[in-house]
Amino acid sequence: MTQVSIIGLGAMGAALAACLLENDYEVTVWNRSREKAVPLVAAGATLAASAEDAIAASPITIVCIKNHLETFRLLEPIKDVWQGKTICDLSTGDSVDADRLVSFLQSNGADYMIGIINAYPSGIGKDSTTIITVAVEETWTRHAGVIKTLGGRSTYIGTEPSALTALFAALFTTRQGFMFGMIYGALVCEKAGVPLQVFSDQIPVSIEMNNNYYKTFAATVPDANYDNPEASMATYAAALDDALSTFKSNGTPAELPQLFCDMVHKAMKDGLAEKQLTALVQHMLK
Ligand SMILES: NC(=O)c1ccc[n+]([C@@H]2O[C@H](COP(=O)([O-])OP(=O)(O)OC[C@H]3O[C@@H](n4cnc5c(N)ncnc54)[C@H](OP(=O)(O)O)[C@@H]3O)[C@@H](O)[C@H]2O)c1
Repeated sequence: MTQVSIIGLGAMGAALAACLLENDYEVTVWNRSREKAVPLVAAGATLAASAEDAIAASPITIVCIKNHLETFRLLEPIKDVWQGKTICDLSTGDSVDADRLVSFLQSNGADYMIGIINAYPSGIGKDSTTIITVAVEETWTRHAGVIKTLGGRSTYIGTEPSALTALFAALFTTRQGFMFGMIYGALVCEKAGVPLQVFSDQIPVSIEMNNNYYKTFAATVPDANYDNPEASMATYAAALDDALSTFKSNGTPAELPQLFCDMVHKAMKDGLAEKQLTALVQHMLK
């Protein structure tokens, strides 16, 4: 049986441990507050006496606590267990703390994996779930089976923690763009006396249209092919100007539509009026 240790048995760590137990892994667990281990021990896990003992018990230890900094602080005092061990930190965190953790592990002879879990605990173990990881490729190859048990669509994107945190920021910003769009949309409706229930009921239509936005994005940005748009940047600019004018004329805070308008008008001044709206990616990086 493949041995895996889990440190941190909060909502996510407990789900990771339970999933591995269900898939016949030999699971050792440790949590700062011991009571959280009780149901997992009842389900077949072994409780380690310390974080150090948990690491000693398995070739790979998955850590899922508060963030990379807390993982570093937890592991730093530990001596003598590191040779041949892999630590996979699935706690959330920034690239500075991830880099510090990676340096610490490598200088002690351990292998690192850092990952982000793109799911709630209820998604752990599903075929559609993604855990995105960085590691030395050989480390990923050795442990991919464990990570893919936890999330069937898990993937490896190279060695650099900064790539992972950038990808997290990108995916989070994508979702938040939609959330902030709804928030500003509510403001303009409220000011105009449109019941927010009416607005809320119409949002699923926008969600369907977002699929087309995604298709345009995927068909244009990866290959930097911004020619022959179905709707040009100039067409979007006209609609964005109308929306901004509505926000302003009824006294709604308009920072978000103003930002959109500023970006497209700057790009059009630089000659991109007949390109895809997504050409902004290239234009704004200049
Ligand atoms: N829940 C989600 O939907 C989700 C999704 C994706 C990623 N994540 C990430 O997964 C990580 C854990 O999230 P969670 O939802 O499981 O949180 P949680 O339910 O609040 O559990 C936090 C866990 O971390 C432990 N912990 C915190 N600080 C610690 C420290 N300094 N030393 C040792 N253990 C410490 C806690 O131990 P005690 O029991 O002793 O307090 C507890 O086991 C976070 O980084 C989170 O961002 C969570």
